[in-house]
Amino acid sequence: MCLLRVHRFALRKDARYPEMPSMSQKTILITGGCGFIGSQCVRQFYRTHPEYVIVNLDLLTYAGNLENLKLVEEQERALPSDQKRYIFVKGSITDEALLHTLCKQYDFRMIINFAAETHVDRSIISMNDFISTNIGGARSLMEAVRANKVDRFIHISTDEVYGSIAYGTASEQTPLHPSNPYSSSKAAADLIVQSFVTTHNVPAIIIRGSNNYGTYQYPEKLIPLAITNVIEKHKIPVHGAGVHIRSWLHVADFCDAIDLIAHHGAVGSIYNVSAEERSNMYVLQLICDSLGVNLEEYKEHVSDRPGADTRYAPDSTKLREELGWVPKRSLQKNMKEIVDWYMKNEAWWRAIKTKKEFQDHYLKQSKGQWY
Ligand SMILES: NC(=O)c1ccc[n+]([C@@H]2O[C@H](COP(=O)([O-])OP(=O)(O)OC[C@H]3O[C@@H](n4cnc5c(N)ncnc54)[C@H](O)[C@@H]3O)[C@@H](O)[C@H]2O)c1
Repeated sequence: MCLLRVHRFALRKDARYPEMPSMSQKTILITGGCGFIGSQCVRQFYRTHPEYVIVNLDLLTYAGNLENLKLVEEQERALPSDQKRYIFVKGSITDEALLHTLCKQYDFRMIINFAAETHVDRSIISMNDFISTNIGGARSLMEAVRANKVDRFIHISTDEVYGSIAYGTASEQTPLHPSNPYSSSKAAADLIVQSFVTTHNVPAIIIRGSNNYGTYQYPEKLIPLAITNVIEKHKIPVHGAGVHIRSWLHVADFCDAIDLIAHHGAVGSIYNVSAEERSNMYVLQLICDSLGVNLEEYKEHVSDRPGADTRYAPDSTKLREELGWVPKRSLQKNMKEIVDWYMKNEAWWRAIKTKKEFQDHYLKQSKGQWY
């Protein structure tokens, strides 16, 4: 089997892409590795899995940022050429020909798909990119995995596919009931992946994470927006009354769960990953406490998202019981260090917030304009 793999490499090299540093290495493909969670996963896997060469396929949309992987790139530059472990490819998961080429070039053992359009507000204004990337991309990836016999495909999904949960919690068996264009595109992708598992025996696992927080998060999302706005002495736009409840999950805990599931999870399964249920106001209060300011002076209520989900409540008992995962971090324990990171890395977020792309969207977002 191993010789066959090496032979396949040797036959099908494409000069447009870097060769494997060494033929004996295992390769994995991480898509969307320049975004918030994908880059955390690349950094974590690069540190904890020296056995892998990581190929990162990212289209570098407005949300993709090569700066998120500067530390990995720096470490790579210091390595001799036969020990290199990271390759970046700019391209789209919707480009099926590219996916086939990369599969043949690198013979992936595993693909982890983070690439997506992810901002609910943007999906309300226009759904086009959500359909092409989240749904079309899932289909192209499934075709590539099927044709190239990739050993494992990990599809990163969201608790938003269950929709708003008034009472109790959502288990992996809870029917999908997405309420916004983003979550409906993610639900569609989940169904596509499940259909390829059933029809074509594709070795896929779906992971439904809850609201992530941490460093390197694009500052249109609640936590980095609030922190950076307070540093800039700007108001924090709060959707509606700010009472919506989310299950907050530290991005490093999420990537620990992804690592565990990718290596020990059951093929064909779905796993919820969630942590602590808190209202947006609770989170904003913690941020303001960490920055030593009064929330009352900073918050500015704007009109709520149409069809806003009031509560997400995924239940990750299955993951805890089957694989023993427990979150190690909490909002209370870790908010201060996250706030400190954004304070120390002002150049990182200022470079984003001063872009026309960010400012044009923020004009709408900060006023709660949904058209
Ligand atoms: N952020 C959260 O709280 C959260 C929670 C649960 C699940 N998720 C899921 O996790 C994944 C990653 O989320 P994130 O917050 O890191 O997103 P993000 O918006 O920060 O990053 C998305 C990345 O995907 C890339 N990308 C977009 N379209 C692409 C395409 N067609 N081809 C290749 N790359 C493309 C972007 O350039 C960017 O680097 C998504 O699938 C999202 O639905 C996110």
